[in-house]
Amino acid sequence: MSAAKPLPLEYKDSLGMHSNIPDINHPIQENLPFHFKFFNINEHIENTLYQTLDRFLLQLDIVFIRDSVLAAVKETVTNAVKANVKRVYFNTLQLDIQNSADYQSRMIDFKKSYFDNRDEFEEGLLKYNYGVFVSFIHNKTMMRIRIMNNVELTEEESSRIKLRLEKAKTYNDLAEAYMDISSDQEGAGLGLIMTLMMLKNDGLGDSAFKFESSGNKTIFMIDVPTQMAKDNAKISKADKIISELDQLPTFPKTIQDIQTAIEKPNSSIGQIAEMIKKDISLSANILKLSNSAAFNRGGRVETLDRAIQLIGLKELQSLLYSLGTKQILEDKFPAFQAIWDKSNECAYYCKWIAEKMGMPKNIMSNLLSASLLHDIGEILLVSFESDKMGQIKSYSNSKEIASAISLEEASFGITHTKLGALVAEKWNFPEVYASAMEYHHRPMLVEEMYKEIVYPIYLGDMMIMINQKEAKSSEIPKEVLNFCKFATVGEFDSARIKLKESHQKL
Ligand SMILES: [Fe+2]
Ligand SMILES: [Fe+2]
Repeated sequence: MSAAKPLPLEYKDSLGMHSNIPDINHPIQENLPFHFKFFNINEHIENTLYQTLDRFLLQLDIVFIRDSVLAAVKETVTNAVKANVKRVYFNTLQLDIQNSADYQSRMIDFKKSYFDNRDEFEEGLLKYNYGVFVSFIHNKTMMRIRIMNNVELTEEESSRIKLRLEKAKTYNDLAEAYMDISSDQEGAGLGLIMTLMMLKNDGLGDSAFKFESSGNKTIFMIDVPTQMAKDNAKISKADKIISELDQLPTFPKTIQDIQTAIEKPNSSIGQIAEMIKKDISLSANILKLSNSAAFNRGGRVETLDRAIQLIGLKELQSLLYSLGTKQILEDKFPAFQAIWDKSNECAYYCKWIAEKMGMPKNIMSNLLSASLLHDIGEILLVSFESDKMGQIKSYSNSKEIASAISLEEASFGITHTKLGALVAEKWNFPEVYASAMEYHHRPMLVEEMYKEIVYPIYLGDMMIMINQKEAKSSEIPKEVLNFCKFATVGEFDSARIKLKESHQKL
């Protein structure tokens, strides 16, 4: 692939930065690169970059590597902006960043100085024309993303990056990287190593990531072959975790019997309530559910008959999947309650989204049940691998990485999403539940028929993560937003804020 020629870039309002394309929907063609130039990163710019990435990945049918590539783009763009900001700092101090002694002594105060004088630094980026250039290009065999800035790194910066690239090659899995890095005093540079491990885990080997810095240019390149094997379910590493699944009990027979009874043509609320009353904890859970955020319509529900009436018989049948699951997992796994609470919040958001979409009631109850169930794999993974999961969580939160999914895969050989789907299979759940578990973080991979369930769950989950500053709305694929009747990211964000407030009041 030849290096792209410099093109005149103009500022485009709709993209939030300079570009050679007129708008976000510009057609993607072989060997016609999209170029972007910006100075500092903001939501609008991120949105444009990630949506462009999605469009290329979709067109080339390689969207299954989205997580790792998005993480790589974020990491390199952040590093490029940071390198530029450092140069503004040294220019302001009238010092040469290439002078090793100055570099060492002055970098100590850099962070503080930056946080105290953010605006001046940002002006400096423009004043000195320290921009970041991101290009997307593809030909028959390869897609390339190039992240470049127009400065040359110092020896020190350069060798640190090279060292990390070399190190990443030597680790077999993330556990090794964690061990090694936590013994490293600086603790920094984990981001780049993680990113490389994620790319590797997605089938993008060491050669997929290139770095060079010389002659006033620093370039990172991510090369993705357009013909990639899609089968990246590397379950073999996860044998131990999967064998733990065998220890799980079968799905409760009493609940299956109730489900069968509901299906009979003339089943009545009274009959079903009688069956349920024999199971005290199930009765209690149904009452609790009817009083939860997603179901409550004002006023406490006190009796089982009233609760079933409120939920609806057919709807109860779907919800029994999540109620049975609760019964099994609740006492066995300490992580249960926190994740169940989060899933209930997700169900509350899903309900609002479903109403906005005009979803029929029978599909809505599937959606609510699926949203309650979608993270059961996380309950298991957190319990089986509590130490490493803790590390992954704290790392991915601090770095705002695309999602912890790729990290999980690279650490355990299995994700909480796949693990959930295996449980759903074990308990003979309808396929839609397995799909919700498997794809709620990778919505673009889900089968057409399950989009109406999986997309709202993904959005409900994103609302929670964005509220907790673990994700950004700019990461949401446009297709998902539009499918769920959100015209823009802004509309989604205002709904998110409104719902967060109403949920807190409950
Ligand atoms: Fe999840
Ligand atoms: Fe979730």
